[in-house]
Amino acid sequence: MRILNASGCLDALAAPEVAKQLDAFVTKTVTPLPREGSAPPRIAETAHGMLNAIGLANPGRERFLAEHLPRLHDLGVPVWVSVGGFCADDYAESCSSLAGIEAIELNLSCPNVDEAADSAAEIVAVCRQATELPLYAKLSAAHPDVAEVARAVAAAGADGLSLINTLRATALDRKLRPVLARGSGGLSGPALKPVALHAVSVCHEATGLPIVGMGGIQTGQDALEFATCGATDVALGTVLFADPGAPARARAELAAACVDAGVVTPEDARSLAKSPETERKVPA
Ligand SMILES: Cc1cc2nc3c(=O)[nH]c(=O)nc-3n(C[C@H](O)[C@H](O)[C@H](O)COP(=O)(O)O)c2cc1C
Repeated sequence: MRILNASGCLDALAAPEVAKQLDAFVTKTVTPLPREGSAPPRIAETAHGMLNAIGLANPGRERFLAEHLPRLHDLGVPVWVSVGGFCADDYAESCSSLAGIEAIELNLSCPNVDEAADSAAEIVAVCRQATELPLYAKLSAAHPDVAEVARAVAAAGADGLSLINTLRATALDRKLRPVLARGSGGLSGPALKPVALHAVSVCHEATGLPIVGMGGIQTGQDALEFATCGATDVALGTVLFADPGAPARARAELAAACVDAGVVTPEDARSLAKSPETERKVPA
């Protein structure tokens, strides 16, 4: 099981010592043109998790390729590039401009942009024509049937899934006004974990594709739970804002959690979950 960061939750060039703890670094979503993102305030802490309405602020594809990507390669950590856009061709053009990276993550699920996107499967299909790099489709659990979307992107040629993105949410201040200038934002952190575990589980059952699980992971035990539900790898997001040592800590905790669970590797936890011996008996 590899430990990655969740897109948008780590600036590897500003914090290379954090990035170097990862098995792969995932960039903030890159769009064809530069974006300033939403007006501030764009971050809010709540009792239930964090809200963000960054709005895909990024330098745009041209500057990213010329200035950021070469410096990311210098870190010596495999790079995944998160690609975003507002129609299928936006995504495909970015995919065809990328080489020498480990994988592309297609952000098909940002809650902080209003522009309508083509359907997830349509985007994956055109990107499949544009690149031979591994394509991970990042989906939202806000869809009423995320497994159906997973099946559609798998049929369109996705090599893997990244699950899940933030969920759209609102926080009010003491005067009952929205805290975020945009009104709503994406909820992340531990509140997301049960939703994410369910999404990973049903998408694993539906597709059998490799899955990067994310959503509220803070500890190695959390990571093992994602493995049990079918995640191949995990990504750390919100936890990185509070604990820059989280990747190394979670890796050590994951090893200890495997010993506690009686499994040799996190992958073994999946089959353990399926075995009848481990089924919970509900008291009558
Ligand atoms: C501040 C912030 C910025 C984010 N930016 C992106 C982004 O650019 N692209 C993307 O696919 N997801 C983005 N996300 C979502 C995360 O990658 C992740 O899916 C989500 O936060 C759930 O994981 P967590 O609960 O561990 O944070 C962002 C999340 C946060 C908190």
